[in-house]
Amino acid sequence: MSTPADASAYSKDHPFPALVTENRLLNKPGSAKETRHIVVNLAGSGLHYKAGDSLGVFAENRPAEVAEILERLGASGDEPVSPAMLRLPSPLPLREVLATRLALAAPTRKMVETLSAKATDPDEKAKLSGLLTPESKDLLAGYLEQREFADLLAEFPSAKPGPQELVDHMRKLMPRLYSIASSPKVHPNEIHLTVAVVRYETNHRDRVGVCTTFLADRVQVGTTPTPVFVSHSHFGLPDDGAKDVIMVGPGTGIAPFRAFVQDRIASGATGRNWVFFGDQHRATDFLYEEDWKEWLAKGQIARLDTAFSRDQLTKVYVQDKMREHAAELWSWIKGGASFYVCGDAKRMAKDVDTALLDVIAQQGGLDAPAATEYVKQLKKEKRYQRDVY
Ligand SMILES: Cc1cc2nc3c(=O)[nH]c(=O)nc-3n(C[C@H](O)[C@H](O)[C@H](O)COP(=O)(O)OP(=O)(O)OC[C@H]3O[C@@H](n4cnc5c(N)ncnc54)[C@H](O)[C@@H]3O)c2cc1C
Ligand SMILES: NC(=O)c1ccc[n+]([C@@H]2O[C@H](COP(=O)([O-])OP(=O)(O)OC[C@H]3O[C@@H](n4cnc5c(N)ncnc54)[C@H](OP(=O)(O)O)[C@@H]3O)[C@@H](O)[C@H]2O)c1
Repeated sequence: MSTPADASAYSKDHPFPALVTENRLLNKPGSAKETRHIVVNLAGSGLHYKAGDSLGVFAENRPAEVAEILERLGASGDEPVSPAMLRLPSPLPLREVLATRLALAAPTRKMVETLSAKATDPDEKAKLSGLLTPESKDLLAGYLEQREFADLLAEFPSAKPGPQELVDHMRKLMPRLYSIASSPKVHPNEIHLTVAVVRYETNHRDRVGVCTTFLADRVQVGTTPTPVFVSHSHFGLPDDGAKDVIMVGPGTGIAPFRAFVQDRIASGATGRNWVFFGDQHRATDFLYEEDWKEWLAKGQIARLDTAFSRDQLTKVYVQDKMREHAAELWSWIKGGASFYVCGDAKRMAKDVDTALLDVIAQQGGLDAPAATEYVKQLKKEKRYQRDVY
């Protein structure tokens, strides 16, 4: 979606080659997390954003993974290919397509079928056939979940697919979205991001998230052009600055709320701000601690409630803090406050939703259907908004 304010020539189809000007670790030594503050320079792009929008980033795959695939295929990388998925006007060199256009993870059953048809080694053929029987559906799903394309090529060397054959099995490398952690009122030519770097292990191999490690490891500050676009969102502050806002953002979910608070301070909004933040440990994972403390000290946020989940034996989460302060939360909501949630969609956002419903039912003296109706109305009035992923 684009807004009339967005007069830029740059978009998702024509991303702006931005420079990253800062890449700073937000966690302190000893943390189990790697969360980075990334600053992207927008100068000269004509791009505009508002607090609540996201930035789209087109990443490149790891060169080592591309090199491994080329080696396993016995290809030079110069072979012209035209992956069906991409509908290219003319073929591109295999190396470029693997580096910038296609996802090297998540191979599908069809790839296993192709390898099965091509394998010449009897042991490899037997293993592939075993994965493709109707009874092996779950086995195959579990097997594929643990593997990337390079693993399959390594495991079945006799089944060498041709370059074109391989790329036709790959999906498009999609841009990743990041909630913007800055306000344009304070940083008109910059976008700040809060990026949780993805690194893990499967099938005894180190894996990485494509875009988070691109931003963390491969983009050189001030040098590497990074294709970006602004993704405009419905997620945003109330027009009336006199309204109160409640923001629940554990982990990287805090990003848009740093933008919200910057924005509210810059615009002189008179409504109160209440922030709920959570992460593993206070000593190492209190993201943007200095900002929050300064804003709290200046009265620019009215409340900051934190839930450091692993600082005690029993887990404490943001929704526990909501329940602990149920009466005050209800009084803010009853008084017209907007309620925002950002971060993990799978568990956190659901649990926060349940807590909100419970607080409204208990404090408002409503039965379950009435509380549900109340929440529905909040959503309708755009006073309950979520940016979850
Ligand atoms: C609107 C929106 C806003 C977002 N905002 C932010 C933000 O502010 N900050 C932020 O960090 N992210 C944010 N995200 C998520 C972001 O877009 C990416 O999905 C995320 O950074 C991972 O991208 P990646 O390319 O590094 O990882 P990918 O290459 O996409 O890999 C991620 C995949 O790896 C697998 N995986 C990850 N960990 C493990 C594990 N331990 N074991 C097995 N498999 C695993 C999973 O299949 C996972 O889907 C947002 C998403 C949306 C939609
Ligand atoms: N694969 C996994 O198991 C896993 C787990 C966490 C995060 N992630 C991913 O890692 C990335 C980084 O995440 P992030 O830094 O934004 O935050 P995060 O690691 O998801 O968590 C931030 C805080 O939220 C807590 N939390 C966990 N479950 C919760 C729940 N149900 N309700 C409320 N809070 C909850 C965490 O506690 P605890 O961690 O102490 O429980 C932590 O204190 C995201 O992409 C996320 O999806 C994956």
